[in-house]
Amino acid sequence: MSDRVGVLFVCLGNICRSPTAHGVFEAQVASAGLADRVWIDSAGTGAWHVGEAPDSRATAAALERGYHLEHLRARQVSREDFQRFDYLLAMDRQNLQVLNSLAPADARARPRLFLEFARRSESREVPDPYYGVDGGFQHVLDLVEDACEGLLLDIRERYL
Ligand code: 4NP
Repeated sequence: MSDRVGVLFVCLGNICRSPTAHGVFEAQVASAGLADRVWIDSAGTGAWHVGEAPDSRATAAALERGYHLEHLRARQVSREDFQRFDYLLAMDRQNLQVLNSLAPADARARPRLFLEFARRSESREVPDPYYGVDGGFQHVLDLVEDACEGLLLDIRERYL
């Protein structure tokens, strides 16, 4: 685990946005032949959905683009995560604020907004699709695919 680059995607519930990023990045990393070099996980700042599979709308939207989310299960962010991951990537500023408030002084990485790695979009937050219309899940995927590509470039430059 420690010889791999660790990436943790974080949202509020860990059933919509961060599992989408988890599944998309898993696919991109696998198709780049880097599955044994990069360790990917996701978590929520909240605990409401711990143990649940991703939201069925997120899973269906991802599957339309060939990504699998159904193996994922929600968990809450833990203090240990700050020692284990090289990237702690928040979907929005609220998630980032919670991560910053939990981060110990000796954290391995500073929490950041995931969309800092986006190259086509200028958005810096992935909007929460949970209470919105179904199209929200397609928009999440558009943003996530973009930022995952930029993230993989950053990992290659820094670590591989
Ligand atoms: P996520 O979406 O943070 O992208 O997983 C949400 C899922 C559930 C809730 C809020 C956001 N909720 O309040 O239960």
